[in-house]
Amino acid sequence: MKILKDYNLKDLNTFGVDVKAKFFTEINNEEDLAELFVQEEFKNNQRIFLGGGSNILFTKDFDGMVVLNKLKGIEIAKEDFENVWVRSFGGEFWQDLVTFIVNNGYWGIENLAFIPGTVGATPIQNIGAYGVELKDILENVEAFEVETGKNKIFSREECELGYRDSVFKNKLKGKYFISAITLKLSKIPKPNLSYKILKEYLEKPASSADGNKIKINSPKDISDAVTFIRQNKLPNPKIIGNAGSFFKNVFVSKEQLSNLLKVFPKMPYFEEDKVIKIPAGWLIEQCEWKGYKVGNVGVYEKQALVLVNYGGATGGEIVDLSNKIIKSVKEKFGLELIPEVNIV
Ligand code: EPU
Repeated sequence: MKILKDYNLKDLNTFGVDVKAKFFTEINNEEDLAELFVQEEFKNNQRIFLGGGSNILFTKDFDGMVVLNKLKGIEIAKEDFENVWVRSFGGEFWQDLVTFIVNNGYWGIENLAFIPGTVGATPIQNIGAYGVELKDILENVEAFEVETGKNKIFSREECELGYRDSVFKNKLKGKYFISAITLKLSKIPKPNLSYKILKEYLEKPASSADGNKIKINSPKDISDAVTFIRQNKLPNPKIIGNAGSFFKNVFVSKEQLSNLLKVFPKMPYFEEDKVIKIPAGWLIEQCEWKGYKVGNVGVYEKQALVLVNYGGATGGEIVDLSNKIIKSVKEKFGLELIPEVNIV
């Protein structure tokens, strides 16, 4: 393995922020990993394990070591009449795994189509979209403990997955390198159309000229629909720098909700898993940030939850904008927005 110095990270973060890492290396196989754990540059510095760089915002040069996970491989680990278990290494792109599974006709992952980033990062924030979260299909996570170099398999329960949250963001933060995950998919059709926007789209697709209802014969019908919706709502990071949702949606109690509805009767809310969520995108839009642009940064015109780098922005500029948004939402609604993106 090679350790590089003062490595430029501009192409390794989807915000496209121009920063450098003091040390940088790539992990292409398990031997690289074993070697990594004993390197002085690794042991004596702070480190970041990077996948697709699609959920991180660098605010300055990183005074430590960035380790890029490039472990590749997707395989069917086992199957029975009803289910199939697919194992993927962490450096695979999530969308390549989705394509593999959907093309094989297995159900469970299709609502999570077209999410940027790599497989190894998905359990850390329990990725979710269109009514499905990783936790609904995750079987286990394989990881190496940084201190000891030992391999451990985390069951789904041990991952402590919550809304955009896991044990790897909390008490085990930075302590494990995620090498692979295994998903449990279904051979039996199990379309999940619980998300209103997806259901409405399938009933009245803007993509088909005659507007015919989309018949769901395979998981690909759903992943195609999700891809279409996402492409229309979210900016392509190759063109406009961004990291998807910048903030999490906001949890409120029943009491808070009823008080808010007295003042803001049009406020949308969703009840999921016995918690009430207010879409942060709506709160930000109400504060008139949607489409806002200042200098090199802005709030995406089609989805207020997404902050964008129009080119040349620093991480500091993006954080300044996010702080202004947090302040105005707090003033208008008394609610606290929490960034979803990892700010370094
Ligand atoms: N909304 C607005 N204005 C906006 C955006 C949203 O009013 O500018 C309101 C609308 O009421 C809309 C509702 O928010 O009906 C939901 O919007 P959307 O379906 O776009 O979803 P979201 O809650 O804004 C979440 C995830 C997305 C995920 C979508 C679809 C979070 C933080 N974000 O966004 O995830 O794709 O649901 O399931 O939970 C990501 O994590 O990077 C991400 C893109």
